[in-house]
Amino acid sequence: MNILLLGSGGREHALAWKMAKSPKTDQLYIAPGNAGTGSVGINVAVKADDFEAIKAFVLTHSIDMVVVGPEDPLVKGIYDYFKNDPSLAKIPVIGPSKEGAQLEGSKDFAKAFMKRHHIPTARYKSITAGNLEEGYAFLEQLEAPYVLKADGLAAGKGVLIIDSLEEAKEKLRKMPEGMFGDAGRTVVIEEYLDGIECSVFVVSDGNDYKILPYAKDYKRIGEGNTGLNTGGMGAVSPVPFADKVFMGKVEERIVRPTVVGLKEEHIDYKGFIFFGLISVKGEPMVIEYNCRMGDPETEVVMLRIESDLIDLLEGVAQGNLKERTLREDPRAAVAVMLVSGGYPETYEKGKEITFPDDVAGESILFHAGTKESGGRILTNGGRVLAISSYGKDKEEALAHSFKAANQIRFDKKYFRSDIGFDL
Ligand code: AMP
Ligand code: GLY
Repeated sequence: MNILLLGSGGREHALAWKMAKSPKTDQLYIAPGNAGTGSVGINVAVKADDFEAIKAFVLTHSIDMVVVGPEDPLVKGIYDYFKNDPSLAKIPVIGPSKEGAQLEGSKDFAKAFMKRHHIPTARYKSITAGNLEEGYAFLEQLEAPYVLKADGLAAGKGVLIIDSLEEAKEKLRKMPEGMFGDAGRTVVIEEYLDGIECSVFVVSDGNDYKILPYAKDYKRIGEGNTGLNTGGMGAVSPVPFADKVFMGKVEERIVRPTVVGLKEEHIDYKGFIFFGLISVKGEPMVIEYNCRMGDPETEVVMLRIESDLIDLLEGVAQGNLKERTLREDPRAAVAVMLVSGGYPETYEKGKEITFPDDVAGESILFHAGTKESGGRILTNGGRVLAISSYGKDKEEALAHSFKAANQIRFDKKYFRSDIGFDL
């Protein structure tokens, strides 16, 4: 098969690495990709949400399947664009319809969906400029801290967790005025849940599903989970607290009702579902849905899938996922993210990265924000490289990743040396 993967981050490098291993893959293209994806496939200078350019490429390069990495093209409706174009309709897109992508694109949609299907999640109320008073009254019923979320996509920055009631009310008033642009016109107020988080990933063909290896990511910039939120500083799989009993509850109460609910509501969903979960005293609750794989979770999840990913995705496209097998690698996998000093605030780009000769032996490097220039690899983003490693347990895997993290050099390099500390 000829495959086109959309996206350009560490997640896409990890997906490309795994897809390139499949005997079913003939040509693998990544649009636009990065310096890392170019080593496992062919990078194409097309933006992941430029539907016209994607169409032209797909038709001229006999693409048999399109796999979508990031949420943007999905929320903008790439699935429907293919389905509604006679020249593209037969080419499967791995990812949900525009309506299905609303599970991520609108927190209000996601909360209402969970309510309809009795899926455990925090109590909430959706507020706009027109019903602020109701929002103030709801806040008064809750206890601190207060959780306010912009309804729409806000690049991971749309969630505020606030200690004082007065400040929560003030932010609630300001959000619909444009504090997060249009994403915040509707605000979801949520009850605060106290617990430990993990990420569960599922692929679904619209009828059946398979639960992929689960993972935990580390979002804060500082050690001990302190400081600003980032796109993700590292990940670990498996997650010790997510044992058989917990995962049984996740499947029964959350995964199955979600897949059945989508089907009942006639929402086309053939792709990945990412459940951001929190364990509150051993009971799983949904914090958020995403309509794609996680980053940096994918950089560990792909290591732990032993089976052929293309075979699974073919099952998604053909609606016979049930007949495919998913085998997990029993080893632990971790990822440690190298970032540019200053991230997630301002940072510089264009620093040359140097790699020791033997680094690839024990670790797999997934490029996140890099670019090639005259044979040199330069930093090109806040998150630069995910260093993924296997181990018999997470300690062994982390030792490999930290060794490489110390050896790889670029000016103002930073990483968290406590990934996995809380497990
Ligand atoms: P989200 O973008 O919805 O995943 O929220 C970002 C982060 O905010 C989550 O990963 C949680 O750490 C935190 N968060 C979101 N909602 C809640 C909640 N209801 N209770 C506690 N923490 C939350
Ligand atoms: N790691 C969280 C995310 O991809 O949104």
